[in-house]
This record gives sequence, C-alpha cells and structure tokens, in this order.
Amino acid sequence: MRWNPFTGAYLADPAQVWRGLLDSPGGVHHDEALGLWLITRHADVRRALGDTESFRNALTLAPVYDVCPEALAVILQIDAPPTTAAADPPVHPRTRRALRATFANTADRVEQRYGAIVRRRVDELVARLVARAGQQVDLVSEFTTELPLLVLLDLLGVPERDIARVRAWADGQIALVWGRPEPAEQVRLAQGLLEFWRYCQALVRDRLDGGGPGDGYVDQLIAYRGGDDEVLTVAEVSSIVFNLLVAGHETTAGLLAHALDQALTDPDRWPAIAAEPHRVPAFLTETLRFAPAIDGWLRVTSRPVTLDGVTIPAGARCLLLIGAANRDPAVFAHPDRFDPQRTDATDHLSFGHGPHFCIGAALARLEAGIALTRLAAAVPGLRLAPGHRRSYQPNVAFRAHRGLPVVVEAAAPAVQQTAA
Ligand code: HEM
Repeated sequence: MRWNPFTGAYLADPAQVWRGLLDSPGGVHHDEALGLWLITRHADVRRALGDTESFRNALTLAPVYDVCPEALAVILQIDAPPTTAAADPPVHPRTRRALRATFANTADRVEQRYGAIVRRRVDELVARLVARAGQQVDLVSEFTTELPLLVLLDLLGVPERDIARVRAWADGQIALVWGRPEPAEQVRLAQGLLEFWRYCQALVRDRLDGGGPGDGYVDQLIAYRGGDDEVLTVAEVSSIVFNLLVAGHETTAGLLAHALDQALTDPDRWPAIAAEPHRVPAFLTETLRFAPAIDGWLRVTSRPVTLDGVTIPAGARCLLLIGAANRDPAVFAHPDRFDPQRTDATDHLSFGHGPHFCIGAALARLEAGIALTRLAAAVPGLRLAPGHRRSYQPNVAFRAHRGLPVVVEAAAPAVQQTAA
C-alpha cells in the first residue's frame, strides 16, 4: 500500500489517511517505500504498546530512513546509553524506576511540585500576548512551543540563555529521526544532536562538580543514584536529561497547539472555556484522542508476530498509528467527531500504554489546562487569522502545526441581538 507521511494529504489532514487505512481490509499494512509495518486498529496498537516481549523499543529513537554515511558517522559518536523510551528490559524498568522516583507523575504531585512554576510561566506569556492586542501573532512560536520549554528549563535547571539552542536541537532531533531531511541537512542535524548530547553531559557534570547538593531535578537524579552505577550510571543521568528535554516539550507544545486549534475553530468553544474552566480537562482528553501530538510511534519486533491474520517477521520496524487507533469505530462512537462531552475519549492511546506509559502525562495536562484557561480568560476575543489553513511539519511521529496565526482581540465579539 502507498502512504506518504511527508507530502500531500497527510500534511493537511492525516485523519483522512487514517480513515482510508481503517476502512481498508486488515489492520496491518506494509509500506514498501519506508519499509515500515503500519498498525492501525486500537486493539493491535494497544497490544503492541504493551507487549514489550514481542515489540521492542530498541530502535524507537533511530531514524526511519537510511541516513547518509556522513551523518551516520556523526550519530555514532553520540554515546548516550538507552534509557526509558529507548530501552528494553532489564534497562527499561531500572531507568524508569529512577524517573518515577524523581519526576512527579500524578495530578496531585505535579500540581504540588510544578503548579507554581507553570502558572508563573503561563502568566508571563499571556501578558506578552495581551500586550500585542490588535495584532496578528503566531501562537506556535509565541506561546505553544514557548511554555513547555520554559517550564522544562525551570525544572531541569537549564539557563534561560540556552533556550534558543535547546529548542533548535530538540526540533532538529525530531526532524532527523522521524522526518525526511536531505543528506546535507542530515549531517547538520546530526552535528546538532551530538552538541546537544555533549551539552546534557556538561549540565550533569556541572551539578556533580558543583560542590554541595542542590534541589534541582538533576540533583535529585544524582542523589537517587547515590554513587552506585548499578542504580544509575552518570551517563544514564545525562541520557535521561537528554531525553526529557525533547520528550517533555515538543509533545506538550503539540497538545497545546491542537487544543487551541480545536478551541478556536468553533466560535462557541473559546468563550465556553473561559466561562466553564471545569470542563477543560475533558476538552483536553478529547483533544488527545482526536489530534494526538504523537500520532505514530515506532517499535521493532523481536520475533514473528501475527496480528489480524498478518504475520510480521522478526526484526521488522512497525509504526503504531496512534492517531488511527484513536479513531477506530470499534472503540469510539462517531470517531471523526470532536466531542469534549463523549464518555469514551479516555480510551485514547496518546500517552502510550503499558510499561512505557508516559511519565509526563500529568505535567502535560497541567500545563495545557492552565494555559488554555488563563489565555481564554485574558483574551476572550482571540480568533484564528482569516484564511488560516491547517498544515503540519512533515514527520511520521510528531504532529506539529507549522503555525497557528491568530488575531489578539482583547474583547469577545459582541453577541448578535435578534429583534424581538
Ligand atoms: C501531550 C504531551 C505528551 C505526549 C502526547 C506524550 C506521549 C508519550 C508516549 C506516546 C509515550 C510512550 C512511549 C513508548 O511507548 O515507547 C511517552 C513516554 C514518555 N514520555 Fe511522554 N508525552 C507527553 C508529555 C511528556 C512530558 C511533559 C514528559 C516529561 C517532562 C514526558 C516524558 C516521557 C518519558 C520519559 C517517556 C518514556 C517512558 C518509558 O519509556 O518508560 N512526556 N510519552
């Protein structure tokens, strides 16, 4: 079957392509061009995410195409050991324990530990937008990608002067691994990734040499390690930081952009968010289902696996199409309808499932919830710029808006009076 995630319909409306795949016979398709097995149905994607014996994470962060030899030579210098999302047992449970012990990952703990940081950063960004009243602004560059990055830098103790570099490296990793860059670009991005890895190593080394324990996240990981390589090596501490700097910002940026897109597309939704903030969590859950920030995720089979009557050989790379699974009519009523009141949205797979389930889910929800509520309260008249057409970055995993241009109107549009 032919499926091109880098051009055409997929970049404007991937859901149309998922619908075609879900409607065609069988839930497993082989894409010759990319050499990937596409898994589309909810039950199969859920199984593959959870069955860590048959579906391995070893190649989850390896490029989806054959990189050119020059770029490969650079990538091979990145000696970051696999942790969490890139690891399989026994490394995965060990490094995940380290994350669970150090990173708040329930709604209550996230609110308690990170709530004040998130509110402070949201308020700063909202104030900046309010100051642009009457202007056209791109919410992607000015709000949705800024917030999660700033929050993460606060949590990890990364100096604010490095924001631009970290953003460029993280964007570069996403393009290098899950995009389709030309060879010269591959080399440039690979060099950036190597620098990024060296930067994370230096960040950890600074804390180790810093004299006296601090209370930042890196210090907590170091304290958890307790000088014992069997618990966690220093390289693994750096690798966790390296992964968090990407996993924790590009994803939440996507959730926030998709939520704003959905909220602003229908003129009734934006005022409803300001008026009924208690409905925001359900709105976000439906956004996660309908427009996941990660809509495809890689696994590699460790042995032949039969799904839907199709046998996938051992060593095959599979793309679990979370976006398609979230619209499987076997699980979701009227799956192509965005409905924040639906009761089945919680069955979405957007944070994964099973042993690798997202550690940052609660933080992502907290950030997006506060951001949406405070922005709606401060700028009730926010609206999409006239003529805006939705379009995404070419990528098989991260569904990121190229832009979300809006007009910052402070006041809500006047309600039309009907003659009595
Ligand atoms: C809307 C936002 C987010 C989405 C859609 C998302 C999505 C996912 C998905 C699909 C996985 C499963 C990976 C797998 O099965 O291999 C995952 C794992 C993970 N996520 Fe998130 N994520 C989000 C936010 C965050 C944040 C804010 C952080 C941290 C600051 C984070 C850190 C992680 C980590 C460390 C893992 C690996 C867990 C493991 O392998 O045990 N994520 N995420």
